Amino acid sequence: MSKKEKLSVESYKGVRDFYPADQAFLNYLLATYRAVAERMGYVEYHASVLEPAELYKSKGADNEELVNEQTYTFVDRGGREVTLRPEMTPTVARMVSAKRRELGFPLRLFSIPNVFRYERPQRGRLREHWQLNVDLFGSPSLAADAEVIAVAHTLMKEFGAEDKDFVIKLGSRTFLNTLMDTYALGDEARMRFLGLLDRRAKMPAEEFAAALGEMNVPLDALSADTAPADVAEVLDLLATLGIQNAVFDPSIVRGFAYYSGMVFEVFDTHPENNRALFGGGRYDNLTSLFDDEPITGVGFGMGDVTMHDFLSVRGLLPAYIPPTKLYVAVADKEMVPHALSIAADLRAQGVATAVDFGDKKLSDQIKAATKHSIPYLLVVGSNEVTSGTFVVRDLASGTEESLKRAELSAFFLNL
Ligand code: HAM
Repeated sequence: MSKKEKLSVESYKGVRDFYPADQAFLNYLLATYRAVAERMGYVEYHASVLEPAELYKSKGADNEELVNEQTYTFVDRGGREVTLRPEMTPTVARMVSAKRRELGFPLRLFSIPNVFRYERPQRGRLREHWQLNVDLFGSPSLAADAEVIAVAHTLMKEFGAEDKDFVIKLGSRTFLNTLMDTYALGDEARMRFLGLLDRRAKMPAEEFAAALGEMNVPLDALSADTAPADVAEVLDLLATLGIQNAVFDPSIVRGFAYYSGMVFEVFDTHPENNRALFGGGRYDNLTSLFDDEPITGVGFGMGDVTMHDFLSVRGLLPAYIPPTKLYVAVADKEMVPHALSIAADLRAQGVATAVDFGDKKLSDQIKAATKHSIPYLLVVGSNEVTSGTFVVRDLASGTEESLKRAELSAFFLNL
């Protein structure tokens, strides 16, 4: 093959390859998501990434931009229209509706799906991301709204954030519905109005004011200085839980049509990353897609991409440490059987060990161990085998320790 005919090593536009250090970060993120959700009394569920396309097309299920422009939809070999899920909420609503008689309520569920959206890739936005979903079904109580926000707050703290690093902005669909009634907006104008508010932060103030003017809604209609009753009560409950960095912001809308009550969005306060990190809200009618008697829901989705940016600008990313503790190198090829035997012993005792096959000279073996960020190295040579004493080198500091073969596992297990 000529050079031209080689395939590109680039990944598909807007998706990522996870090399070991990237995967280690993702694992840390997901483990933290899982630990906090479980501690707050939520249990994990999962579902396939494939859904029938109609799940996202039904009226009220989603926002139009997402359905018409941002889904990955294809026709399968049986002629069915299939969509790679762009979010988890319709899926979990479907699952809860399907087993409404078996499931106990209030029902606390979480999941960490990979989701797909055909978006223009940019900072914080990709075509694929991992998204923690925390949802509480079957309670109309505002204490449920406060609880899911408390889960969000606890997550931020668990990642090392302080209250000053983020602000939780609460909006109210009830407030906006009243406002839209006051200005007699019809169905179509309501969608445009909500969409406009959702894009507000991304457009010049004059452009926003002009678009609002076209709908005959005065700008100051949005500048409510007192929180509506539902939001005020949620803020009170949050204060009881010691959460002080939550405020009412009338322009918080969220892009989905299914939200019906309180909505919230968590913002980064860092000047270099001043953006929405994640959000959610109450959706009391979504399950009416499946059943006449709706089950109330409230929850949020928290993506890995925006959290990575949040942690990165604050130096809160954990350092990469591979699971492998020790690299067993060999002075020459004859030593390989000894190296394999030492590695097998250590592995049997629970020490994560990688071994070199002696294909390259020792200095190259050490370079490989360093590239892998493996913390310790041990070289097997004939002297070591004869004496039964091995030198364990800390590759970062260069310090060495001589140990008998029988002492090796204890050394690593006590690190
Ligand atoms: P969403 O705001 O569309 O809500 O997404 C939730 C979060 O997922 C975002 O705030 C962001 O952290 C992340 N996210 C969304 N799209 C992208 C993207 N293209 N690239 C990277 N990250 C992204 C929902 O999806 C709702 N279903 C959440 C929910 C659950 N509401 C109630 N329960």
